[in-house]
Amino acid sequence: MTEPILEVSGLVKHYPLTQGILFKKQVGSVKAVDGVDFALRRGETLGIVGESGCGKSTVAKMLVNLERPTEGRIRYKGEDITKLSGKALRTVRRNIQMVFQDPYTSLNPRMTVGDIIGEPFEIHPEVAPKGDRRARVRELLDVVGLNPEYINRYPHQFSGGQRQRIGIARGLALRPEVIVADEPVSALDVSVQAQVINLLDRLQAEFELSYLFIAHDLSIVRHISDRVGVMYLGRIVEIGRDAEIYDHPTHPYTQALLSAVPVPDPEAREQRDRIILAGDVPSPTNIPSGCRFRTRCWKAQERCTREVPLLAVPEEFRRVSGPAAHDSACHFAEEKRVVPPGQRPPGPTDDLGKEGP
Ligand SMILES: Nc1ncnc2c1ncn2[C@@H]1O[C@H](COP(=O)(O)OP(=O)(O)O)[C@@H](O)[C@H]1O
Ligand code: SF4
Ligand SMILES: [Mg+2]
Repeated sequence: MTEPILEVSGLVKHYPLTQGILFKKQVGSVKAVDGVDFALRRGETLGIVGESGCGKSTVAKMLVNLERPTEGRIRYKGEDITKLSGKALRTVRRNIQMVFQDPYTSLNPRMTVGDIIGEPFEIHPEVAPKGDRRARVRELLDVVGLNPEYINRYPHQFSGGQRQRIGIARGLALRPEVIVADEPVSALDVSVQAQVINLLDRLQAEFELSYLFIAHDLSIVRHISDRVGVMYLGRIVEIGRDAEIYDHPTHPYTQALLSAVPVPDPEAREQRDRIILAGDVPSPTNIPSGCRFRTRCWKAQERCTREVPLLAVPEEFRRVSGPAAHDSACHFAEEKRVVPPGQRPPGPTDDLGKEGP
């Protein structure tokens, strides 16, 4: 097992909830991220999955310093980066880059592709001296599978998939070690998703990148992730190796998410239990006591209202060494195979099309 390149512990982001216009009074807080721990190892892909609003983007923004944590630590190669400033901060920022969700709104429509991809060099001229920049941008276009001759075009002249390639080229410009990809394919057509995921896969090997890959559904991260963490209402509720999460989930929430992903074989689909969750996700301003999932959990008992389940290997699995023995924040964790063997959800990379010009 390789060393962690990024370690997150006790990460919290609470936004103040205010009332009144002139005299703003704080009446509560939005607990967007409420105690997240994970480690990203060098060269691996950690998938983070959870429904919309569970805090994924807020985690991503804290990692790349677009938001300051309310509490907690983010360590890059062992050093706490939440308190850095000046040159040390710039160096870290250079090494942890983000690819954004929506390639339609994240690229400035008035800038040429060359200026968009080359913009990070303005802040980090040491990476590419002025005279070299056009050549570097052309090289980056080529690396992400775009024609270097497109350097003077504008974003609207490209398809969604091509725009996301531009976003990726920009993310790679400073030769980072870590890429935080926040739902990089969610806005794209299924056939194009596959190409962008394949591209990310190839770039990872080529540039020895570590990925934090965020998605809202388990089928998208399946092919690309070595490990997967499942988030619910500001916390990770289960985390483990790919096979542990897909084939041996022990947390009821993961089991419910898996019961909703498509499986290829119609017969297996018939046999599978569909777990329908009761109610809506509670508001992050008013998180349930004890287990935050209890208001929707079909297994909830009295203990769940009192005691916060910790993210650890559950008691009953501690003495066994097997795929069920992974971290799961549930007092009554039980292994339950939701997706029948050999019927893992199809991922976007099952459809390997080539995108036209
Ligand atoms: N700047 C902000 N101020 C107040 N609340 C916010 C802010 N940014 C995000 N939130 C809230 O925090 C929660 C988590 O948001 P987000 O991290 O974007 O979730 P996700 O990316 O998983 O959809 C949501 O309830 C969202 O409305
Ligand atoms: S701790 Fe209780 S409420 Fe929470 S997931 Fe487990 S059984 Fe459900
Ligand atoms: Mg988001």
